[in-house]
Amino acid sequence: MSAPPRIPENATIERLPVTIPMLREQRRLGEPIVMVTAYDYPSAQVAEAAGVDMVLVGDSAAMTVLGYPSTVPVSVDELLVLAAAVRRGLHTPFLVGDLPFGSYEASDEQAILTALRFVKEAGCDAVKLEGGGGSVDRARAIVRAGIPVMGHVGLTPQTSTALGGYRAQGRTAERAAQVAQDALALQEAGCFSIVFEAIPAAVAAAIMPRMEIPVIGIGAGASTDGQVLVFHDLLGIYDGLSPRFAKRYADLKGQMVAGVRAYADEVRSGAFPGSEHVYSIDPEELAGFRERLG
Ligand code: KIV
Repeated sequence: MSAPPRIPENATIERLPVTIPMLREQRRLGEPIVMVTAYDYPSAQVAEAAGVDMVLVGDSAAMTVLGYPSTVPVSVDELLVLAAAVRRGLHTPFLVGDLPFGSYEASDEQAILTALRFVKEAGCDAVKLEGGGGSVDRARAIVRAGIPVMGHVGLTPQTSTALGGYRAQGRTAERAAQVAQDALALQEAGCFSIVFEAIPAAVAAAIMPRMEIPVIGIGAGASTDGQVLVFHDLLGIYDGLSPRFAKRYADLKGQMVAGVRAYADEVRSGAFPGSEHVYSIDPEELAGFRERLG
């Protein structure tokens, strides 16, 4: 028997762009779906290189990259700029754009027009909207317009004031039943996937057997089909409010501050720039130049 062909160590193995049928298949096979947020070209390139399945241009960008105190103020135009940059840095993962607060609630028409912008102007594969209730009709309308929609239940930061703040949801039988009802309604409305955010792991596990679409959890335990984390939380870039479910895998902010501080110290001490950072000129040319300067 001949040996299998060896793949050279430096070969780039092209992954096929992730599609909805591929996500469904991953769910069916029980292969965890990995999703992360990204907000610009470099973070998209990181997500691509790390081999994640899905990328969300979350409205969390409002806080992580735009410096707003919550997700509420961010506009469609602001998120579109970020989503288009992410698109340019991404080839393989499935790209979802978050519809910001106030851009889809008023009517089905408003929701469809906003969703279309995310697809046409930023190149998103799908959009995400928050909540059950009126959002179910909006989701249905966008799906009917031909745009895949991801739902989002549990803690929905856009309406966190009405939920009593940034806190876990579904912690009473009645509130857990509401989360389940919203999830099932969004599934019935045609959402291709749904986010469960900040609900007890046992509540998520009890709802999962009723779900037929990929469920991506964030603070919902291990029973969901996949997990999503905010890029800046997982890499330790953002040091604002950190929810208990946000596991930190790196301390990039610390490293970035140390890097900029070292640069500042070297500029002040004269150690930078060194001879290896400067351009040279032919001595004759330099002499000629000095003559011209007089
Ligand atoms: O905006 C966001 O980042 C999100 C995720 C937390 C799911 O909605």
